[in-house]
Amino acid sequence: MVAPIYQKSKEFLDSLINEGKATPYLEIIKKHHLETYEHSLRVGLLSVDLGLENHLNDFELRLLGYAGLLHDVGKSKIPEEILSKQGKLTNEELEMIKGHSRSGFLEVDELEYGLIKLIVVAHHEYKKSSYPRSGKDRRKQSRNKDRRKNKVDISKLAEIIAAADMYDALASQRSYKKEMNKEEIKKILEEQYIGNHKYIAQVLDRY
Ligand SMILES: [Fe+2]
Ligand SMILES: [Fe+2]
Repeated sequence: MVAPIYQKSKEFLDSLINEGKATPYLEIIKKHHLETYEHSLRVGLLSVDLGLENHLNDFELRLLGYAGLLHDVGKSKIPEEILSKQGKLTNEELEMIKGHSRSGFLEVDELEYGLIKLIVVAHHEYKKSSYPRSGKDRRKQSRNKDRRKNKVDISKLAEIIAAADMYDALASQRSYKKEMNKEEIKKILEEQYIGNHKYIAQVLDRY
């Protein structure tokens, strides 16, 4: 499937990549797990594209681009055999996978005034059985963070990244699963995504 992504989104993401700040992280992901690297580039692009559609400003687009590129950097701490495992994961392996949001938070450092790591840690918090924080914990913490961080709405940005991430994970073939068709993807997103559903509709419109 090829998405009608705005040319402007591609140029915007390329310019972020060319700044070089994401390069060390992207190299780590690429070396560790190519599938995750390719997914990260697609999530970065789709997130910026959604940001443009929703008239976000340039700074918010920067945050979306960087957070999309780096959201899964914590997976570099998980053995490749687990990331590519076909078949059911053990509880222990599942816990390791779930740890990637927090490891990403620790790894991403102070990029863009420390805002990227806040989005990274929250990218799995907009689906049912969210982690690392449940909906209730997240709302409490996000409000505090939003106040501290000069009114950047971190929750909104994480919601967009989550929509792009969930879509891409379902739509692309992974070593452990086949790609799904649009109807199957729509059904799962409508059931599982607990952020603002306009983002889901906007993502599905592109394909
Ligand atoms: Fe993730
Ligand atoms: Fe992801």
